[in-house]
Amino acid sequence: MHVIRKNGWNLPESAATDESVYMRRRDLLKVMGLAPAILATSALPSFAADDPTADLYPVMQNLRYRLDRAVTDEELATTYNNFYEFGSHKKISEAAQALKIRPWQVRFDGMVEKEMTVDFDDLVRQMPLEERLYRHRCVETWSMAVPWSGFPMKALIDFAKPMSGAKYVVMQTQADKETMPGLKEFWYPWPYTEGLTIAEATNELAFIATGLYGKPIPKQNGAPLRLVAPWKYGFKGIKSIVRFSFTDKRPVGYWEKLQGAEYGFWANVNPEVPHARWSQANEKMLGEEENIPTLLYNGYGEYVADLYKDMKGEKLFM
Ligand code: MTE
Repeated sequence: MHVIRKNGWNLPESAATDESVYMRRRDLLKVMGLAPAILATSALPSFAADDPTADLYPVMQNLRYRLDRAVTDEELATTYNNFYEFGSHKKISEAAQALKIRPWQVRFDGMVEKEMTVDFDDLVRQMPLEERLYRHRCVETWSMAVPWSGFPMKALIDFAKPMSGAKYVVMQTQADKETMPGLKEFWYPWPYTEGLTIAEATNELAFIATGLYGKPIPKQNGAPLRLVAPWKYGFKGIKSIVRFSFTDKRPVGYWEKLQGAEYGFWANVNPEVPHARWSQANEKMLGEEENIPTLLYNGYGEYVADLYKDMKGEKLFM
C-alpha cells in the first residue's frame, strides 16, 4: 500500500488545484518582475545560469492525459536510464553530464518548403508548452510514469512545413565523440536514429519533451529535446535531437539496423506479441516490487489504434 506521498507529483488528481495556485504565484511573480530575485530565495526551483530557457518551467498541466498509477519517483526516473551514447547500462546519469547542451542547433531538412537550422532556445519559446503525465514502457519490460513538459509534436511539424509528399519524419541524436564515450563502440550504428510516419507525428499524443518534473529535462533523459511516443516501446523515444528530416522513404532506426529480427519500425506496445527473447505480457514499474499487466498500445488505444487499422501484413508490435 502506498501511503507515503513524498512530493506534489504523487498527489491525487483531486489535489491538482494546488498546482494551479502554484502556477499563478509564479506567473504573478513574473508580471511583477520579481521572479528571479524571489525565486532564488524561495522553495521554487531556481534557474540554471547556463540555461536561457529555464524560466519557462514549470508549465501548466494538460489534464486530458491522466494516469492509472502513481508517478515514478524523480530520483529513479533520472538515475535509471537508457542512453547508449554514454554506455550500454542503466547508470549513465553522471557520464551524461558531459553532454554540451548550449548552444544547441536543430536542423530541419529533406522534403520541407525551406531547409533551416534553428537555435533551440528560439524554437522552444515559439512552442505551446504544457505538462503531460504519461506512462513509459521500455521494450526491456521496465516502465515508469512521469510528468513531461514540452509541446505537441504537431506544432513542430507545422513549424517545419513538410511538403505534401513527405510521409516520414526521421530524427537524429547528436553524435559527439568528444563527450559521448559510447561512440567508441563502433559496431553500434551511430548516430541514434528514429522515425515516425507524419500521421503518427501529428497524432495528438506525440510529444516533444523539453522538461521533466517541472524543470528543464535532465541531460540523461535527453536534453534539450527528445521524442515521447507513449504508445510505443521506449526505444522510439529518441533523445537529444539535432535533426528532423522529412522523406517519402521509411527510415531504418538504430535498433532495427542493429537487430532487425527483434526491433522494427512500428514498435507499438502489445502484451500479446512477445519479443524474440522474452514475454511482453507484464512490466515492472521502477521502484515497485510487483509486476503488472502491460496494456495494448500501453493503454493509449483510444488515441492511436485507428492509425493502424488498415495495415495488414505489417509487423506493428516489434
Ligand atoms: N535515445 C538515444 N539517443 N540513445 C539511447 O540509447 N534509448 C532509448 C530511448 N532513447 C536511447 C534513446 C530507450 S531504449 C529508452 S527505454 C528510453 O530512451 C529511455 O528513456 P529514459 O532514460 O529517459 O527513461
